[in-house]
Amino acid sequence: MLDLKGRKALVMGVANESSIAWGIAQSLAEGGAELALSFLPDARGRSERRVRRLADTLGCGLCLPCDVREDGDIEALFEALGREWGGLDALVHSIAGARSEDLVGEFTGVSREGFALAHDISVYSLIAAAHGGRSLMQGSDGSIVTITYLGSQRAIPNYNVMGVAKAALESAVRYLAAELGPAGTRVNAVSPGPIETLSSSVIAGFSEILGATAERAPLRRNVTARQVGNAVAFLCSDLAAGITGQVLYVDGGYHITAGM
Ligand SMILES: NC(=O)c1ccc[n+]([C@@H]2O[C@H](COP(=O)([O-])OP(=O)(O)OC[C@H]3O[C@@H](n4cnc5c(N)ncnc54)[C@H](O)[C@@H]3O)[C@@H](O)[C@H]2O)c1
Repeated sequence: MLDLKGRKALVMGVANESSIAWGIAQSLAEGGAELALSFLPDARGRSERRVRRLADTLGCGLCLPCDVREDGDIEALFEALGREWGGLDALVHSIAGARSEDLVGEFTGVSREGFALAHDISVYSLIAAAHGGRSLMQGSDGSIVTITYLGSQRAIPNYNVMGVAKAALESAVRYLAAELGPAGTRVNAVSPGPIETLSSSVIAGFSEILGATAERAPLRRNVTARQVGNAVAFLCSDLAAGITGQVLYVDGGYHITAGM
C-alpha cells in the first residue's frame, strides 16, 4: 500500500490549479506526505497569493519563492527547508520554460540565447535543485522526480527547442541517478501525455495533439494531472524502492504507437 506518512516533500512548479505540479501535490498529500511548495515569484505577488490559496486547501504552510534562474533563490529555498524540516525525503521538479518563438517555426532558427534559456530553466534547474537538496536527503531513501515529454524522443511539431531540452533532462536523470544512488537517493522522470495547462497553452496546435493522443493511445483517452501525480507518488514511495534512472510514461500508452 502506498504510504507517504512522515515523508517531507518539496514540489516545485505549481502555477495554478491546472499545473501538473498541483496534481502531484494533491496525490502526495493524499498519500500522507507533508508538503512544501515553491513558486516563481512576480513583482505584484499574484502567483504567491494563488499558490498560497491552493496550499491552504492541503494544509500546507510552506510556500517558498524560487526563480530557478537565480542561484541565490535556489540556495535560499533549501536553507529554508533545512531550517524548517532539517531533512527532505522527496523533491519533485515540474518546471520548464522557453521563449514562445523558439517553439514554433523552423528549429534551425533558434537563437543562442533562446537555446540557453530553455536549457537553463528546464534542465539546469533540476541539477541545481538536486545539488541543493542532496545533503538534506542524505540517509532518508530520498526520491527526486522530474517531468519530461515524448518530444525528447520524437520530433514533435512546435516543440522544437523544448524537445532538445527534454532529451537533456532525461540524460540528467541518468547521471543524477548514478551519482546519488550510493547515498540512497533515487532519481526518475515521469513522461505524461498532453494535458491542458498554462505552459501547454503556448504550444501551437496543442488541441490537435490532445485529439490525436486520445484517438490513437491504446487507452483511447488523455491523462489527467492526478494520474501523473499518482505515478509520482508511487516513485516517491517505498513501493518504488528498486527503481532509479527511469522514464515512466503516463500517456495512455501513446508512446508505443507508430507515428507522431
Ligand atoms: N502540459 C503538458 O502537456 C505536459 C506534458 C508533458 C510534460 N510536461 C511538463 O510538465 C512540467 C510542468 O508543466 P505544466 O504543463 O504543468 O505547466 P505549468 O505552466 O503549470 O508549470 C510550469 C511551471 O514552471 C514554472 N517556471 C517557469 N520558469 C520558472 C523559473 N524561472 N523559476 C521557477 N519556476 C519556473 C512556472 O512558474 C510553472 O509553475 C513541465 O516540465 C512541462 O514541460 C507538460
